[in-house]
Amino acid sequence: MEPTESDLMDPVPEIHADDDLELAQFLRWGRDLHHQGRYEDAAKAYELILGLDRDNEEARIGRNRAVRRAVPRWHWEMLHDEERAELYDRAIRQAVAANPDALVLDIGAGSGLLAMMAARAGARHVVACEGQEPVAETTSRVVRVAGYDDAVSVVPKMSTRMTVPEDLPRRADLLVTEIVDCGLLGEGILGTIAHAREHLLTPDATIMPSRGRIIAQLVESEQLFRKNHVGKLYGFDLAPFNRLSTLEYFDSRLHRHEHRTLSDPLTVFDFDFRTADATPRGTELRVRPTAAGRLHAIAFWFEMELLPGITLDNAPGHDSHWKQAIQCLPVPVLVQPGEPVVLDAVHDGECVRFTVRTGSEPGPERDVPARDGTERDVTEAAR
Ligand SMILES: C[S@@+](CC[C@H](N)C(=O)[O-])C[C@H]1O[C@@H](n2cnc3c(N)ncnc32)[C@H](O)[C@@H]1O
Repeated sequence: MEPTESDLMDPVPEIHADDDLELAQFLRWGRDLHHQGRYEDAAKAYELILGLDRDNEEARIGRNRAVRRAVPRWHWEMLHDEERAELYDRAIRQAVAANPDALVLDIGAGSGLLAMMAARAGARHVVACEGQEPVAETTSRVVRVAGYDDAVSVVPKMSTRMTVPEDLPRRADLLVTEIVDCGLLGEGILGTIAHAREHLLTPDATIMPSRGRIIAQLVESEQLFRKNHVGKLYGFDLAPFNRLSTLEYFDSRLHRHEHRTLSDPLTVFDFDFRTADATPRGTELRVRPTAAGRLHAIAFWFEMELLPGITLDNAPGHDSHWKQAIQCLPVPVLVQPGEPVVLDAVHDGECVRFTVRTGSEPGPERDVPARDGTERDVTEAAR
């Protein structure tokens, strides 16, 4: 039988309080795990050391360093995003009021905020799953300290590994989740909700968010382009370094960069989370530029309907903790108002990517199995 990845890893030694411990050896073990990129294991190793020597400074710092690698920094900024919290709270109150007996499933609990909102709104039973171990341990602690542990149970697992009835007493009636990056799909919302619909939710469960749209705009911005591109600098041609630049999007705030928009915003994908899955898709949009210029990047963002009438977005100029998704083109493309460009948008279930061609160029070959075949002229549809 082929060895699995975990067979090939160093075994994690067990430490018992009565072991004749050589702390230095265990600290070295923590450092090794960290250097191997096994941050959760490294954190556990340091925790074991702290269990025996709670003032061990190297273990304390090592644990924190390992946890920081596993837990993204954006949690704090996200938790301070009042608009996000208020809109989720409003939608959750509405959904719980409509069905107070609902079993609620919160996928990706983080601090437990949405699960506790559901409990505060009157839900009697909320199951909150969190796939990252150090986060899940903390979710339980927050929920307990806040006094919601009678209503909220925490499952330290990825939702895609949960089963009914082992982790969830029965299929849930209400799903709340916020696993969305600036480009909507980057945290796996499509596959995660599709899996939940199939295995964890009742057929008529309320799914929050219910819809998500991706909206894109053509942008001229030398300043953004430079975030992904170099040329001649300081007497050297550094252009070969661009083979390392990203072909996909990165997050940045459009309005904090000098830029001109070269088209109206246009809807690229519109997902109904009651039916959507992570099957790769593509669409082709004919865009009429609204100004002449050098097209450096496609800026895109989402509008996420939590429930009908309650919508959250990260549109430019909007100071949500989410920035916009920016995909720089490999080379700028000159555009003119009278000459439509074709914007090919594809997603692989987790990442949206664009290619641009002028109307006369042939379309690219794609490795995307399913296309919706649309060719839409968006001039009139643009907002
Ligand atoms: C963006 S945070 C949201 C946290 C919290 N729900 C909130 O709104 O404040 C997403 C969290 O979901 C977790 N996560 C992502 N996908 C998951 C999945 N399929 N199952 C369990 N946890 C998941 C991540 O580890 C992360 O902690």
